[in-house]
Amino acid sequence: MTDTSSLAIVLAAGKGVRMKSDLPKVLHPIAGAPMITHVMDAAAEVGFAETAIVVGPDMGEVEEVAKSHGAAQVFVQSERLGTAHAVLAARPAIEGFQGDLIVLYGDTPLLRADTLKAARDVLGNGADLVVLGFEAEDPTGYGRLITNGEDRLLAIREEKDASDAERAITLCNSGVFAFRGEIVLGLLDRIGNDNAKGEYYLTDAVELARADGRDVVALRCPEDEVLGVNARAELARAEGRLQERLRQAAMAGGATLVAPETVFLARDTALGRDVVIEPNVVMGPGVVVEDGATIRAFSHLEGAHVRAGATVGPFARLRPGADIGPGARVGNYVEVKNALLEEGAKVNHLTYIGDARVGSGANVGAGTITCNYDGFTKHLTDIGAGAFIGSNSALVAPVKIGDGAYIGSGSVISKDVPEDALALTRGPQQLREGWAAKVRARRSRER
Ligand code: UD1
Ligand code: CA
Repeated sequence: MTDTSSLAIVLAAGKGVRMKSDLPKVLHPIAGAPMITHVMDAAAEVGFAETAIVVGPDMGEVEEVAKSHGAAQVFVQSERLGTAHAVLAARPAIEGFQGDLIVLYGDTPLLRADTLKAARDVLGNGADLVVLGFEAEDPTGYGRLITNGEDRLLAIREEKDASDAERAITLCNSGVFAFRGEIVLGLLDRIGNDNAKGEYYLTDAVELARADGRDVVALRCPEDEVLGVNARAELARAEGRLQERLRQAAMAGGATLVAPETVFLARDTALGRDVVIEPNVVMGPGVVVEDGATIRAFSHLEGAHVRAGATVGPFARLRPGADIGPGARVGNYVEVKNALLEEGAKVNHLTYIGDARVGSGANVGAGTITCNYDGFTKHLTDIGAGAFIGSNSALVAPVKIGDGAYIGSGSVISKDVPEDALALTRGPQQLREGWAAKVRARRSRER
């Protein structure tokens, strides 16, 4: 659902000094994705077709992420002169634009699409400007919304410019503004910087719009959604809130989370019906778990696809490219990377499977290692359907084990094995009857 008559402008020019980080603030991830992409996704979800990002100087990294995430235009605000000034950095995108224009923030990642939709709906009902406000637990530092006692917004007063009476107001400005696009430049071009901070305040647009006889509405949203991230502790808090939401959504979708508070999901984690996630599981980005699969305790998955009815863990690690087939089993202390386990294959204990195919129904014994890396390049191991790999075997890639072949335990296999053959490389067993008893007797005489 996109329409071309809507524009989201995401402000991200702040340096984020309090993060004390080399990474621009809006690129810090929550639930496995950079903060700014959460904001962009919410806007896209309610049909904002165009996204313009406003970054500071030397923020090439943010520009790259935004562009690869579908931002049409990136503008640089060369000096940080206030929120109105920041929006005006996107002037070329605003000029001549008619339609819904929303101003969002790259460091406010919890804003839900439903809330943006509600703001758009108020515009749709004839308002000229909608400001998202919230009842602040602690209003310190926020701009206060001065209303007519109902939902009409008269002005926004920044804390530094507020009277004592205004400071007592607890309804605060989230910063999110939704405009009828054609009025934006006419308002913003009239905003000055005669205030306590000497900045061009976007909030001044409210009084200017009122003076023009425009309809300005304050729309309330939960404080949680507009939690801004300025420091690491707030990043952790945002992560916590988002995790709660993701867990709730997973359970509402038919997955069992035995101890939801111990399961960490990525924003894009896809869980099917009747999936069971045991305690202490961590999902990185790009995980799909199909219907009826079980992820047992203490497993770590990223970039992995677990197909219907498969079982993973406890204590398993699935790395990018792991594709666990229907009904297949990956057991404890098994690591799988860039490998396909076909239907019903079993890799149950203490094993590394990397750059490999394990054919349907094959059984890989405890302690097997695919030696995929020769110090220079990665090579493939191909294990045929129904093959049996004895415990503690090393499969030196590139190597192919035929369907139904049998590898004797403790073998180092460096040549291809034809189907249904037995291959083993261990030395013959030596046996000396009574040897141990003789040695013990000699030792005790010598003492
Ligand atoms: C702003 C609002 C305040 C609101 C608060 C909510 C104004 C004047 N005040 O205050 O009413 O309660 O947000 O958090 O709008 N930014 C730029 N370029 C700039 C200035 C800011 O990109 O020149 C971006 C920042 O990166 C940040 C956001 O705009 O993401 C808010 O800026 P900030 O300076 O933190 O505004 P506040 O003083 O907190
Ligand atoms: Ca702020």
